[in-house]
Amino acid sequence: MNNMWARKSVESLRDEVDGSDRGLKRSLGVWNLIALGIGCIIGAGIFVLSGHAAAANAGPAVVLSFIAGAIVCVFAGLCYAELASSVPVAGSAYTYAYASLGQFIAWMIGWDLILEYALGATTVAIGWSGYVVSFLKNFGIYIPTMLTQGPWSYNALSGEWISTGNIINLPAALIVLITSWLLAIGTRESAQVNAVIVAVKLLVVITFIVLGWNAVDHQNWVTAGNPDGNFVPPIDEFGNFGWGGVLTGAGVVFFAYIGFDAVSCAAQEAKNPQRDMPRGIIGSLLICSVLYALVAYVLTGLVPYDKLSVPDPIAVAIDTLGLPWLAPIVKLGAIAGLTTVVLVLLLAQTRIFYSMSRDGLLPGIFSDVHKKFRTPFKATFFTGIVVAVLAGILPMGLVGELVSIGTLSAFVIVCIGVLMLRKTRPDLHRPFRVPAIWFVAPAGALSALFLMSGLPLDTWLRLLVWMALGVAIYFLYSARRVNSRPEL
Ligand code: ALA
Repeated sequence: MNNMWARKSVESLRDEVDGSDRGLKRSLGVWNLIALGIGCIIGAGIFVLSGHAAAANAGPAVVLSFIAGAIVCVFAGLCYAELASSVPVAGSAYTYAYASLGQFIAWMIGWDLILEYALGATTVAIGWSGYVVSFLKNFGIYIPTMLTQGPWSYNALSGEWISTGNIINLPAALIVLITSWLLAIGTRESAQVNAVIVAVKLLVVITFIVLGWNAVDHQNWVTAGNPDGNFVPPIDEFGNFGWGGVLTGAGVVFFAYIGFDAVSCAAQEAKNPQRDMPRGIIGSLLICSVLYALVAYVLTGLVPYDKLSVPDPIAVAIDTLGLPWLAPIVKLGAIAGLTTVVLVLLLAQTRIFYSMSRDGLLPGIFSDVHKKFRTPFKATFFTGIVVAVLAGILPMGLVGELVSIGTLSAFVIVCIGVLMLRKTRPDLHRPFRVPAIWFVAPAGALSALFLMSGLPLDTWLRLLVWMALGVAIYFLYSARRVNSRPEL
């Protein structure tokens, strides 16, 4: 008889891997892992949300928001590394939770990860669209706004929905459909393609920092809401900005770090997981943190922050440099970089659906594998269509905040899970162990909760509604289905 607290044994998970993996080669060294991390990390968070967070929450102090986000991620990243090395199975936090905290929590985390991956892909696709539209403008090609923006916008300052009179964000929907199709037919980005795109992304970001650095003008910190030009702008009439705004901003730009958990999924392919997993995770996080803080400083130093709530803030900042040749190059780099992030997030989503379906918690079609392409193609099409619709109609800031809160709650569970597994299975072989775990894991959980506490009440309510829906589906459908499966 199944029960909701049933845990999967780590041994059975390892057997599943041994039975299903076709001899994954241990070929990734530390630099490959760092490149993998950077490939998934640098995306809409820095290219788009940095501007939103500066404009709506933190002003120039968005630099501090980025640093706070990095600290939370380093704690959580270490916990991911330990779980990834001892439970080396695809499916990320969902699988770890199944082994450490039982079926119900695993279901809730899987449900929650939809916010991270499916809505993450939605957010990045909207960011992609912003840069494509802006890139085409450089060549005199104008797509009507009606077809490049969704029908509603959301005023983060006052919490109001506003009808925009537009129809659909067509480029955002299209990129999701194209990448889903690529995933369904099994096109994998090879390590080389990933390395090239990572190099392009890094080049774009570093060029922006280097060329923008000397043009930074602190006069840009002076705005209507910040007449003294303070680094941390004073609190406004809606309660935004001030130190609270730095915290809210951290919750928003935290999105920019999502993706490092993808490194943990490569544990089976690392040459020396014990040494290289933590280096890969922490290395990619540290490189991105430094770059992000510098980009945020240059960005708010080039453009008054109240002008940064645009789809392409980095491009807007570049336009102030008076280097017309640079803008299209940077935009192209951003577009290439954002494309791989959409791809990886969609891939992660379909693999989690696949694992949940194999475990009986979701309908069987989510784990149907195409005979020729050997991909979970039905799950991929389903995810692609839903995400394309969402990307076509939803406003970016709103979705991005939901992604952040969803991921942060997954972090809380991962940090608790790693501790539980140490207690319940002290004997387990752990190629990597979190140092000072009794400090790192609680600090990870508490700091993630702290960032969540800074996110707006609306976002919390949406998270609660989503989770309540998850509880209902579990008891009305998933738990019954698992129970009725004879093989479990
Ligand atoms: N960290 C990824 C991005 O910023 C998800 O696009």
